[in-house]
Amino acid sequence: MAVLQAFLIVLCIIVSHQNLVDAKFSKSMYITWGAQHATMQGNGGEDLNLVLDPFSGSAVQSKRGFLFGSIEMLIKLVPGNSAGTVTAYYLSSTGTKHDEIDFEFLGNISGQPYIVHTNIYTQGNGSKEQQFYLWFDPTADFHNYTIHWNPTEIVWYVDSLPIRVFRNYENQGIAYPNKQGMRVYSSLWNADNWATRGGLVKIDWTSAPFTARFQNFRARACKWNGDISISQCGTTSPANWWTSPIYSQLSSAKRGQLQWVRDNFMIYDYCKDTKRFNGQIPPECFIQQF
Ligand SMILES: *[C@@H]1O[C@H](CO)[C@@H](O)[C@H](O)[C@H]1NC(C)=O
Ligand SMILES: *[C@@H]1O[C@H](CO)[C@@H](O)[C@H](O)[C@H]1NC(C)=O
Ligand SMILES: *[C@@H]1O[C@H](CO)[C@@H](O)[C@H](O)[C@H]1NC(C)=O
Repeated sequence: MAVLQAFLIVLCIIVSHQNLVDAKFSKSMYITWGAQHATMQGNGGEDLNLVLDPFSGSAVQSKRGFLFGSIEMLIKLVPGNSAGTVTAYYLSSTGTKHDEIDFEFLGNISGQPYIVHTNIYTQGNGSKEQQFYLWFDPTADFHNYTIHWNPTEIVWYVDSLPIRVFRNYENQGIAYPNKQGMRVYSSLWNADNWATRGGLVKIDWTSAPFTARFQNFRARACKWNGDISISQCGTTSPANWWTSPIYSQLSSAKRGQLQWVRDNFMIYDYCKDTKRFNGQIPPECFIQQF
């Protein structure tokens, strides 16, 4: 008995040091929109289904916020004619100067490609979109979408391939999200005013209800407990595994994968959109990106 207790205590210590939030959807999230359209009961609370129909979409958010770490989810997107729907998966703080890290999946008519839309807001400023097609059908199976966020960089991963990096250039006057805890959000909604071919293709409600499926939500991340977390979560230490040097920059193999994605699947990069910013391309675009 004593041995078992000692074992459990050690186990608790290990778990809390790894900052692993056993992040079953049913335990760590709540429904914020469309209570009749979201379910977290499947597979012992491990599965989340979000539904969109003519009456409502649906959304969930994590109960707690995080600062740095790895946020992971497996997602199977709305199959068939999903034009006009957007499935969103993002981290966000609150307030007017909020930080945000986005994955959004823009649906399409059957057989046409989804767009993965990424963006980041720092201190309330967004407009840093990059968009990609995928190298697989994201509606046929679950795929792994992970946001890796530490004091030096943010990496968006799809099935462990990095598709985007946003590095910390605070020392050059470019804001970086490192002082506000962010919660995790997922939603499915009608965005047919912009999503598919820029809003030209509307939702076909005869295909409703639309369902996006999520599994395996894991937040291996530092829990946000207010401003004290800014130093606690950012300090370089073994417990803060995300501060390990191996995560401060992509390996050359990972950089090769990122380049492959950019060369073959990238369809929009705000850094190349000279018309949009009146010639004033944002400063981070001139600095090494990854
Ligand atoms: C946000 O962007 C605007 C326009 O580019 C800029 O004037 C402002 O300084 C930015 N704010 C921060 C906090 O970076
Ligand atoms: C998802 O991808 C992340 C980032 O590469 C990885 O750490 C994690 O183990 C993957 N999860 C699954 C279930 O494959
Ligand atoms: C939908 O398909 C069209 C035609 O192939 C393509 O131009 C567009 O980028 C696709 N995705 C979205 C979200 O519009």
